[in-house]
Amino acid sequence: MTKGEQVGPQDWQGERGVRWLRDMAGFEAMLQPLGDALMARAALAAGERVIDIGCGGGWTSRTAAIQVGARGAVCGVDISALLLGEAARRAAGIPNLTFVRADAAVDAIPGAPFDRMISRLGVMFFVDPVAAFSRLRRLLVPGGWVDWAVWGPKEDNPWMFGAREVAGRHLELPAPDPGAPGPFTLADRDRLADLLAAAGFVDIEIVEHRHHVAVGGAADPAAAADFAASAFFFADAIEAADAATRAAIHEDLISFYRDFRTADGRLAVPARAWLVRAAASR
Ligand SMILES: C[S@@+](CC[C@H](N)C(=O)[O-])C[C@H]1O[C@@H](n2cnc3c(N)ncnc32)[C@H](O)[C@@H]1O
Repeated sequence: MTKGEQVGPQDWQGERGVRWLRDMAGFEAMLQPLGDALMARAALAAGERVIDIGCGGGWTSRTAAIQVGARGAVCGVDISALLLGEAARRAAGIPNLTFVRADAAVDAIPGAPFDRMISRLGVMFFVDPVAAFSRLRRLLVPGGWVDWAVWGPKEDNPWMFGAREVAGRHLELPAPDPGAPGPFTLADRDRLADLLAAAGFVDIEIVEHRHHVAVGGAADPAAAADFAASAFFFADAIEAADAATRAAIHEDLISFYRDFRTADGRLAVPARAWLVRAAASR
């Protein structure tokens, strides 16, 4: 049974982790522009000690390891053993990068405190964000700071919510629970700033990052429709539907994504994220 947009720690250790691993190439291709913006803004310096929260397959961790160089060190943390296994496999031979399986909201992290913290979309899944953020703050040296990317409002992210609307024309999807953890739980900028302040962060800056994504890294609307139907949070509901409904959803997803073809044959669907910077007080 689909849980809709709600995605918590258990889900990443189960169904979400399995899907993310299976579709990792597509997710990472889609998230490349956001990852590039995050890492450019973070501008990690040589020699820094960095922790990457919810590192998944570890693209940001590997990029950070290059930026901080041999005198620096990076620790990628993730709750999913499955995803960390893949991250470690991909990072084989990088000497200044280690991985730790932990629930970042509650578990002790060896190697703390760190100079800097990064996260691409790994901090939206905490059941109690203020408690989790205070814990993350304490993983930093006094004056150290975080650079995170989180999704902005749903209406500005049609790459997923347009597709959800299409699926919702054919299926009864659960109503979103605004208080529950999930990919869009930090979308309200004022609330996000309040949560960070309540967790003891200072010098909070939240800047908008508008960009375009190729859903699943695809240039072809049919491939984007396949990806959405098998990788997004409503995929289990689609898979549980009968063959005729699945086919109708697929057709409608193709026409939805077709509207985002560019003249040079790419797929570019608008996306809006927040790039967050906040410091642990001295
Ligand atoms: C949307 S994915 C992003 C993965 C990766 N940062 C990327 O951009 O490719 C979210 C990641 O956060 C991890 N995660 C979720 N809750 C977590 C928690 N409480 N502690 C550690 N990792 C968590 C998930 O297992 C998953 O790998």
